[in-house]
Amino acid sequence: MKKLTYLFLLFQMFLLGSLNAQPYKPSPGIDAKVNALLAKMTLDEKIGQLTLYTTDWGSTGPTIREGYKNDIRSGACGNLFNSHTVGFVRELQRVAVEETRLKIPLLFGFDVIHGYKTIFPIPLGEAACWDLEAIELSAHIAAAEAASAGLNWTFAPMVDITRDPRWGRVMEGAGEDTWLGCRIAEARVHGFQGKKLGNTDAVLACVKHYAAYGAATAGRDYNTVDMSERFFREYYLPPYKAAVQAGAATVMTSFNEYDGVPATGNKYLLTNILRNEWGFKGFVVTDYTSMNEMVNHGVIADEKEAGELSLNAGVDMDMQGSIYQRFLKQSLKQGKVLQKQIDEAARRVLRLKFELGLFDDPYKFCNEERQKATLLSADHRKAARDVSRKSIVLLKNDKNALPLQRNQKIALIGPLADNKSELIGNWNGAGNADDCITVAGGLQGWNVTQVKGCDIEGTDKSGFEAALAAARNADVVVAVVGEKAMMSGEAASRTEITLPGVQEELILELCKTGKPVVVVLMNGRPLAIPQIAQNATAILETWWLGTEAGNAIADVLSGTYNPAGRLPMSFPRSVGQVPVFYNERNTGRPYNPDSKWTSRYIDEVNAPLYPFGFGLSYTTFSYSQPTATVTYAANDASKRFAKSPVTVQVTVTNSGKVAGEEVAQLYVRDLVGSVTRPVRELKGFQKVMLQPGESKTLTFTLKSEDLGFYRRNMTFGTEPGEYDLMVGGSSQDVKTVRVRLEK
Ligand code: GLC
Repeated sequence: MKKLTYLFLLFQMFLLGSLNAQPYKPSPGIDAKVNALLAKMTLDEKIGQLTLYTTDWGSTGPTIREGYKNDIRSGACGNLFNSHTVGFVRELQRVAVEETRLKIPLLFGFDVIHGYKTIFPIPLGEAACWDLEAIELSAHIAAAEAASAGLNWTFAPMVDITRDPRWGRVMEGAGEDTWLGCRIAEARVHGFQGKKLGNTDAVLACVKHYAAYGAATAGRDYNTVDMSERFFREYYLPPYKAAVQAGAATVMTSFNEYDGVPATGNKYLLTNILRNEWGFKGFVVTDYTSMNEMVNHGVIADEKEAGELSLNAGVDMDMQGSIYQRFLKQSLKQGKVLQKQIDEAARRVLRLKFELGLFDDPYKFCNEERQKATLLSADHRKAARDVSRKSIVLLKNDKNALPLQRNQKIALIGPLADNKSELIGNWNGAGNADDCITVAGGLQGWNVTQVKGCDIEGTDKSGFEAALAAARNADVVVAVVGEKAMMSGEAASRTEITLPGVQEELILELCKTGKPVVVVLMNGRPLAIPQIAQNATAILETWWLGTEAGNAIADVLSGTYNPAGRLPMSFPRSVGQVPVFYNERNTGRPYNPDSKWTSRYIDEVNAPLYPFGFGLSYTTFSYSQPTATVTYAANDASKRFAKSPVTVQVTVTNSGKVAGEEVAQLYVRDLVGSVTRPVRELKGFQKVMLQPGESKTLTFTLKSEDLGFYRRNMTFGTEPGEYDLMVGGSSQDVKTVRVRLEK
């Protein structure tokens, strides 16, 4: 029965993906209900709908400041976050619907980023699975668990593209690539919002952080973002648009400025692009006091002006700033904002409360039995184990050190080998470390001697000797090392991106024993580990895999599952290379190892340690020479490519001895454009399972918008000319076919 349910979940995902790829628009009849309610509301009650406060999560569980409870009673606060579990939510909802004048139910939001109670891999890890259905399933399960615990709104997906691993929040996103970031944003929105808003396995998604937060200067969180509009629109903006077009109901503004104006007060972002260009019909919420922080940015003199700038820019809801609550009435009286702006903001919030069905049944997300049956269910753990092992990237496997053999004596070394507390990573929802399976737990039944060796941080090497002794007495070493979970995430930027503490020294000492050393990395960002890459026998990148981490890692170590993860972000050789990314421009002096006078370093090569799209398997794959066909519309004498797709075909063969999945990646290059173009850009992929010796011919179809870009006059479109179409198993390992596209 269990397998059936899990398969049914997967089938649901397949259906979902095709169902709701539409931008959110109000259901029929909703606006009439909203307008009727608005007509009864006082100005205070309308402003209350634009106010969002946090509750607190004390050691014994959720609490709420008495003042906020009174704000709910008076209608001054219409929305809460960080409040969950059925009992707590039910009580707060009761106050709203039984002790207020108009009985308007509350929204309950929470950061359900990679799971609510069953914790899935951190989003950067999930992005490595290149399996959109798996990613959608993960978000769907997170939503089902959150919605069973009283929640109806998650502050996810985070879709910020980033090229800088110093920035701690890379762990929350989908890595460096825009096209992949768009596909993953869509999958996550579909997963969170499910078949229909109002279902009790769905929550409102919230696209964040709008916009370009991932481009923080120097990778320092909250720092200035400054870039050309072309670069913004081509590289950073598309994933937000993809999420909105996938139906996301809400958008969260980012802390950073864009083009000199903080996003929270930026009308160009919030109205010109989001509303006017994209037709977004949901509501915009600020990030945590990002409205208040515009005073620090220095674009307005005080918080009252911050409220006026925000409402005039297009912000509907004030997270934790209480600016709208404190000043909006005065601003209205002074004519700094208009009544219709307040009405429209309240309308957008109320619409979604109606869409969720909260007016019909305010307690629909508060069902104790459903909560008990849903959280950490066996099917959810099974799904988490599957998504987790799909997220693991095999970076090195010399001498076929992996998979391990059952009769091997294993020295299990490292501070993360049996550590539960870090496995759920940052932004871990209501996850509980005690529910996690460690690597030691996953290897139960194997012949394992476990020695910690050292801590994650610090200089203490007193544990080295015992670790080395265990290694000498074993057939193979499995060393589980990495960062602390809180070394990535918000406000967790690092100037060094190496392994903390003395872990690398321990690994290098273990390598000197001459035993095969399998390094298992647990981290929230790409790490610069050239010494380990050179000396270890095998390396698994496992990110933070969550509740089922140990079982997923054991499945890969044992060969039960053949790893197929591919890097969603380049791994630098050193922080000095940052930002290093695959889709760079060629420059006028492209790197030439034989010439000093080219774009290069004198102390390091240009190439990353591991490139975007890279990952190994326990088998090998080979590619035929790709072919491409440009089919112009029959009656299109003008041969306008814009109307015709380009198809690319390639045959992939499993040239190894075991079954495995290959991620065939399609990259394109426009050789001559009216502006410079990247040397390659990802525009498609296909993940395919192949038995040993089996071949499959894959067909990719490129539509004209896949080859479009912001041309010299800033219009988006294609240009005639020659294109290289490349297919391969990573961004740096491709075979190319050249085509000419007519105008
Ligand atoms: C934080 C984060 C944002 C999160 C919000 C609510 O500051 O920037 O991602 O959703 O506050 O917790």
